[in-house]
Amino acid sequence: MLRKLLKQTLRATYPYQHFLIRSRAEFPFLLNALKLTGIGAEIGVKHGTYSQYLLTHWRGQKLFSIDPYFESEVEVEADGRVVTQMSHDACYARAREKLAPFGARSTLLREASPQAAENFQDGALDFCYIDALHQFEPVLLDMEAWFPKIKCTGILAGHDYINGEWRGVRYGVKTAVDEFCRANNVRAVISHETDTPSWFIFKSRAG
Ligand SMILES: C[S@@+](CC[C@H](N)C(=O)[O-])C[C@H]1O[C@@H](n2cnc3c(N)ncnc32)[C@H](O)[C@@H]1O
Repeated sequence: MLRKLLKQTLRATYPYQHFLIRSRAEFPFLLNALKLTGIGAEIGVKHGTYSQYLLTHWRGQKLFSIDPYFESEVEVEADGRVVTQMSHDACYARAREKLAPFGARSTLLREASPQAAENFQDGALDFCYIDALHQFEPVLLDMEAWFPKIKCTGILAGHDYINGEWRGVRYGVKTAVDEFCRANNVRAVISHETDTPSWFIFKSRAG
């Protein structure tokens, strides 16, 4: 465990070989190594597990964790049933509890993406990690909304670079990321997890 953590923290290749990202667990260490330690955002928070992980290992000033926690027909459980408002409210309460110990470094916003992006100035964020709705169209809309908010040396990233039916949802993340990259002349680096890899776009490599 300690060896793994040290390896993640000290990986000498971070500044040079961004394509060597084994899993999203390495993301906060990569951000630290690249000195992307200002403001970040996670879109889609649920219980706050990954926001908590980021805040624990990332040396950044402030993380905005953004999720509307609002019942909608596109948000379903593995068995296909709509996630109820009661379940969203319970997730919100759980996330608040998990993120409270981080004080002013953490702000949990009960807002929906992509509209939430309008409250941030262009170039304001060091990174944004998208893990909200996973269908093709909402992912593409999220990417288009948040990409301008990332500073020129920053990273736009997200979870579940996969297509197809999974846990009752038709995933279209892979197609959305590929299409976004083509349209914006950028490349996505994919982490090495076999089931739910993450994608990372280094804005400095655009064009
Ligand atoms: C897969 S979960 C997020 C898990 C979290 N990122 C983690 O790894 O711990 C997806 C979350 O996206 C949220 N969500 C759905 N629509 C959203 C939207 N328009 N904007 C932001 N979050 C949204 C859902 O409420 C749900 O909590």
